[in-house]
Amino acid sequence: MKISILTLFPEMFYGPFDHSIVKIAKEKKLIEINFINIRNFGIGRHKVVDDTPYGGGAGMVMRIDVLEKAIKKASKKVTKQKIILLDARGRRFDQKKAIELSKLDHLVLIAGHYEGFDERVTSYVDDIISIGDYVLTGGEIPAMVIADTVARLIPDVIKEASRKLESFSPDSNFSSAVLEYPQYTKPRIYKGLKVPEILLSGDHKKIDEWRKEQAIKHTKKTRPDLFC
Ligand SMILES: C[S@@+](CC[C@H](N)C(=O)[O-])C[C@H]1O[C@@H](n2cnc3c(N)ncnc32)[C@H](O)[C@@H]1O
Repeated sequence: MKISILTLFPEMFYGPFDHSIVKIAKEKKLIEINFINIRNFGIGRHKVVDDTPYGGGAGMVMRIDVLEKAIKKASKKVTKQKIILLDARGRRFDQKKAIELSKLDHLVLIAGHYEGFDERVTSYVDDIISIGDYVLTGGEIPAMVIADTVARLIPDVIKEASRKLESFSPDSNFSSAVLEYPQYTKPRIYKGLKVPEILLSGDHKKIDEWRKEQAIKHTKKTRPDLFC
């Protein structure tokens, strides 16, 4: 799978994608991540990418003509491609959306800045996504969040078994997406805090049952909305 990120600050991505699982996935050619600098399509000698909003108001707005050229440059002639605008006003990103995006051949993410985009850019995109109900300074961190979440869902990036029972997994044998069960490792007792006895019993049927109970209990406590 290929992910293209349209950004004014490609340098912000050097680091997050150069370590750990994403780095290995890139080395194994399971994923390719490339950056298109929106500034390269800017107007005139100063490569201007923004202008003042019609009707007045604070801040600057990213220009449609500049964005269209950058989108055209990123677009590939593949059937399974989606162009996504990152915007606090978009549909909220979740694991279901990540699974859907992980099946694409080419995912294009557009990171905004300033006060956001000229609204007409929405004619050139397939979807508008927000990573949550808060406003960040730019779309680079949302692009990192989405690319990282999608990358680990690509076959062979991480072990299938690790994904099966994790939080929000549709394969978790529950009717609703639930959060992961609590996990423990050595030491067995730490400053009086003990690992639950059941996990030391060796009885895998009972351990599975306990984990399911705990997953439901934890989800009901912290995210009751997931059961609606
Ligand atoms: C300062 S924000 C613009 C906020 C905009 N004026 C508003 O009120 O929604 C600049 C850019 O950051 C990105 N951004 C900020 N918050 C985001 C979020 N929650 N999800 C996705 N992208 C976000 C978008 O690309 C946006 O164009």
